[in-house]
Amino acid sequence: MSVFQATTSAPVNIACIKYWGKRDNTLILPTNSSLSITLSQDHLRSTTTARADPTFTETTLWLNGKVEDIKSGGRLERCLAQLKKMRRERIEAKDPNTPKLSEWNLHVASFNNFPTAAGLASSASGFAALTSSIAALYGLSSFDPSKPSVSSPSELSLVARLGSGSACRSLFGGFVAWEVGSSPTGEDSLAVQVAPQEHWPTMHALICVVNDAKKGTSSTSGMQRTVETSALLQHRIKNVVPARMQAIEKAIKDKDFDSFARITMADSNQFHAVALDTAPPIFYLNDVSRSIIAVVEELNRVSYEKTGHLVAAYTFDAGPNAVVYTESRNVKQIIEIIVRYFPQVESSPFPDPFNLFSGSQPAAAP
Ligand code: ADP
Ligand code: DP6
Ligand code: CO
Repeated sequence: MSVFQATTSAPVNIACIKYWGKRDNTLILPTNSSLSITLSQDHLRSTTTARADPTFTETTLWLNGKVEDIKSGGRLERCLAQLKKMRRERIEAKDPNTPKLSEWNLHVASFNNFPTAAGLASSASGFAALTSSIAALYGLSSFDPSKPSVSSPSELSLVARLGSGSACRSLFGGFVAWEVGSSPTGEDSLAVQVAPQEHWPTMHALICVVNDAKKGTSSTSGMQRTVETSALLQHRIKNVVPARMQAIEKAIKDKDFDSFARITMADSNQFHAVALDTAPPIFYLNDVSRSIIAVVEELNRVSYEKTGHLVAAYTFDAGPNAVVYTESRNVKQIIEIIVRYFPQVESSPFPDPFNLFSGSQPAAAP
């Protein structure tokens, strides 16, 4: 008897221009374009195995060994329905002898090698790995141009987007934009690669885990509240993000770290300002996060005075954990300074080298 099973991994991506706000909550269409860097496969990632079998009596998802609730009409169901439709139309309709996997239930098991729902983009790697594993199981993913019936990474990004917006960007490596699009049905709201990782191989992301607990306000509910209540968000969408997208894409193409760093830090700060402008306000940063901002700002000030250049850029997603972007030649110095200012705890959720940054619990969480 044949076994129909596929395993794939997808890395986390960390946004430099933040996605925060939906114009359509069901199709997950954003209010603005965003841009991120996908981490390497061997760092923070989700690994997902999908299996289809005619004897399965229901579809089940295990996340880190525990059964996840599959809500009827929810995101997961929409992702699965779209993948089944693609399998039916592109594979099964063309070959009557091919097994009708689209009619069978699935067992899906996923593991994250880092904290889930803690503001480290687990929904991004999670839904990207889920989409790519089922696409592989269904014979939908191929880079072979002689097989036009199957899907490109941009097409799969449309499916991952139905699970979690940020997930669409994890279908690509390197520097990735998620275009806002204008269609009400969402087919132009997809991810595209701006540059591969090899374009700027000296770029590094240092993950500083301030708190690995599940966050209080999920990204989904937080951004919904922001869309409903924040006037600052409207200003950001119209007057700030479009120009920033152009400027950061140019900085990436030119490998201009100073411009990249200025835009990345400004956008992180505006995203958290928008969270604060929400009613009731959302606080994702804590005292440790703010101290990391102060240390990086001071390092940059001193470096700029001496050399005319910046050395690091902080960015924070919907949680207190910092990601510090820096170039190879500065990695050692930045690690030494962060370790000096923020004493480390022994136990770590990460394999080396991440344990360098784990811990440093805040004195009082907000
Ligand atoms: P994060 O900051 O980690 O992205 P979110 O609030 O955006 O937090 O999303 C967390 C949710 O994403 C989880 O509660 C779970 O529903 C989903 N998720 C996380 N990892 C996976 C995974 N590997 N496979 C499927 N879904 C996942
Ligand atoms: C702050 O993609 O997690 O990390 O689409 O509701 O699942 P949903 O939200 P999610 O939001 C990510 C927000 C962010 C910024 C970003 O990654 O661009
Ligand atoms: Co998320």
